[in-house]
Amino acid sequence: MDTLNVGIIGTGNIAPAYIRGCAPFDVINVTACADILEDRAQAFAAEHGLAAYNVDDLLARDDIDIVVNLTLPATHAKVSLQIIEAGKHAYSEKPLAVTRADGEAIIKAAKAAGVRIGCAPDTFLGGGGQTARKAIDDGLIGAPVAATAAWLTHGHESWHPNAGFYYLEGGGPMLDMGPYYVTALINLMGPVARVSGAARMTFPERIATAEAIKGQRLPVEVNTHVAGTLEFESGAIATTIMSFDVWGNNLPMIEIHGSEGSLSVPDPNRFDGEVSVVKGGTNEWVDIPLTHSTNIGRGAGVADMAYAIQSGRPHRASGDLAFHALDVMLALEESSEQGRHIEIGSTLEQPLAAPAGLPDGELDM
Ligand SMILES: NC(=O)c1ccc[n+]([C@@H]2O[C@H](COP(=O)([O-])OP(=O)(O)OC[C@H]3O[C@@H](n4cnc5c(N)ncnc54)[C@H](O)[C@@H]3O)[C@@H](O)[C@H]2O)c1
Repeated sequence: MDTLNVGIIGTGNIAPAYIRGCAPFDVINVTACADILEDRAQAFAAEHGLAAYNVDDLLARDDIDIVVNLTLPATHAKVSLQIIEAGKHAYSEKPLAVTRADGEAIIKAAKAAGVRIGCAPDTFLGGGGQTARKAIDDGLIGAPVAATAAWLTHGHESWHPNAGFYYLEGGGPMLDMGPYYVTALINLMGPVARVSGAARMTFPERIATAEAIKGQRLPVEVNTHVAGTLEFESGAIATTIMSFDVWGNNLPMIEIHGSEGSLSVPDPNRFDGEVSVVKGGTNEWVDIPLTHSTNIGRGAGVADMAYAIQSGRPHRASGDLAFHALDVMLALEESSEQGRHIEIGSTLEQPLAAPAGLPDGELDM
């Protein structure tokens, strides 16, 4: 197994998590970074022992195999296309793009160039997500009938030093947090056939309370509360709410209800968490021992793609999976605007389940 060199474009808030998350995997080595703010890239490089370049110079280097795109949602498509044009494998933060046309262009360009396109979230590769997947695949709750997926908060302006982008095109709770929930549901239950949604924008501006931007008025141009129904190709029906408009809630993050029982799935924005089941007729939640490592972080999807590049198998946090999730998320808001169900044009095979019991820092080739 060769080690593939990784460069990062976009050294902002989430970039340190990738340095930590990539480190345990011998199959990848983060060596370089770039940012449109060159001082920021240089400071990040100095802190993490990397080489800093401008974006063009990083993309021109022969000694970088995979480039991770950690720029903002509205820029993901442009930067991923630049990476692919440079002949490198691309791995993007979520969402893959903010329009279907851009998402399709990325997937087409990667196929034409013979490179891989991967995309966050990769949290479903964690112990929580994979244990839940195995429980369903093993028939623990019978055939999935229904699911609930809910993420409700009052937005990110209380903590994020650059929170404005969450309220502009490409932001909003559905494109921001929806990828975790919709991807987790697809991993557990397969592709979605059609959706219906209802969405609203509640506050025309937000006042930041995060220290770095305290008092700034952030204009809102996206829906900040999206509710909807997802009908899966299998026939199962999920109900979802993604909201930046809610001060407090006690809803479970994800539950899957099957013909023989119900499964409680942990936070899909994390790699760990508890999985529990209630079997029909027992009325008692019982924890299931985790079958997969929780000792992984953001970057696991990059490592999985690096193994897959070498063995030829499909990678799990794939562009196709991210495109299907994007297709579903956009359709939920379109359904609200148009007042009708929306059929989902894309489909895919469920991502490969990860083998149980691998040691920390190892994925299957
Ligand atoms: N912050 C989090 O907790 C978090 C968690 C998970 C995922 N994400 C996702 O990660 C991505 C980045 O979020 P963030 O919080 O790090 O944002 P951020 O604003 O802190 O960082 C983004 C960085 O990208 C750089 N950039 C923007 N356009 C560029 C371009 N064209 N070329 C090169 N560099 C460019 C910016 O200068 C900035 O340094 C987003 O898609 C976000 O949804 C963030």
